[in-house]
Amino acid sequence: MNTTLQPARTIRGEIRLPGDKSIAHRALVLGAIARGEHTIDGLPESEDIRSTVSCLEQLGARIETRPDGGVRVWPGTYPSRARLFAGNSGTTARFLAGLAAGRPAEVTIDGDDSLRRRPMERVADPLRRMGAAITTTAGGTLPMTVRGGTLRPVVYRPAVPSAQVKTAVLIAGLSADGDTVVEELLPTRDHTERLLRAMGAPIRSTGGGVALRGPVELRGVQVAIPGDVSSAAFFAAAAACLPDAEVVLRGVAVNPTRTGFLDTLSRMGARIDRENETLHLEEPAADIISRCGDLRGISVSPEEVPGLIDELPLLAVVATQAEGETIVRGARELRVKESDRIDAVVTNLTRLGADVEALADGFVIRGPCRLRGARVFSFGDHRIAMAMAVAALLAKEETVIEGSETAAVSYPGFFEDLRKLLR
Ligand code: S3P
Repeated sequence: MNTTLQPARTIRGEIRLPGDKSIAHRALVLGAIARGEHTIDGLPESEDIRSTVSCLEQLGARIETRPDGGVRVWPGTYPSRARLFAGNSGTTARFLAGLAAGRPAEVTIDGDDSLRRRPMERVADPLRRMGAAITTTAGGTLPMTVRGGTLRPVVYRPAVPSAQVKTAVLIAGLSADGDTVVEELLPTRDHTERLLRAMGAPIRSTGGGVALRGPVELRGVQVAIPGDVSSAAFFAAAAACLPDAEVVLRGVAVNPTRTGFLDTLSRMGARIDRENETLHLEEPAADIISRCGDLRGISVSPEEVPGLIDELPLLAVVATQAEGETIVRGARELRVKESDRIDAVVTNLTRLGADVEALADGFVIRGPCRLRGARVFSFGDHRIAMAMAVAALLAKEETVIEGSETAAVSYPGFFEDLRKLLR
């Protein structure tokens, strides 16, 4: 599907975002192994979340939607064999590898063409050290078969900062006897740690990482998922760039390990404010107000990258509107996301007339530049499709985004919500 967008005069209004994808995956997976009532309000309807739901159902869990829209999760009878299809979702594939490692069964995990290109040895390696037998393809990709069983704890230091790997090891650690420790080179999002603690797990930080004392029986909780800050980012970015713009983003998750993009926008000169902060099961949320400002280029250091990894394609779009140079380094991980996001951004922004250069581990953009309309591509990647929608608003002619349907991977109503706010 193609979506055509016209240049926007401005963006104004308020919106409530769908529930946070990262928190949603965790609430489902941990709920499927918890005792007692476990409920989830605000579960997003995105394709990635559907992948996690259907994989957990294959593993025996029951996931029922109540009349009020909330969801109840029960563990079920774990099968002795299963084939799981994780669709486009790396989070699903990696978390479920961690779950399967601690159970005496043979579970094969597969995914779509994009997911089949993504690295899986990063999760297979620590789980093997814990005692699971795991095979991946010669290239270290899906399909991956996990033969689980009794696990021993490990002290593991992932070679790249990854919340998905950390979470897979911690989930496996729930069934190992002793301290499972994940040491991080750089801190990554900590939703797993927060939810595990809320569900009764003895988990503590160790300076450079996190330790979990297993075995643990989790207890179910009532999760209310706040709005997805990575989805909110598209509206905050559009408001930062368009004259006279102001958007109010209600009830957004503002866990400090996820707000790197909002912090970067304000460093660039956008006016970003927070109101009505709340805390639920250790996860903070707030209303975010984003208003335009005089933007200037900035340098994003490797240490900052995990805090805004999913928003870097969008940062590239904003950087085209900023005075001076924006440099992002230390973001080689972008090359192994749903697409090669460095190539995708550089190809598309070049078509739109921006001054942009690819680096092995990031990019350089010189602005400001009045973008021209063009045909751009999603590369089958939801975040690229949505970042290009923001670029299209800033261009002086109409822009066509090819493959825009992929936005539904994380945000099915994105284009409708965006159109409602355009003026
Ligand atoms: C996620 C972690 C990040 C992020 C992904 C979601 C998570 O991936 O890019 O969209 O929910 O844990 P990595 O762990 O591979 O960095």
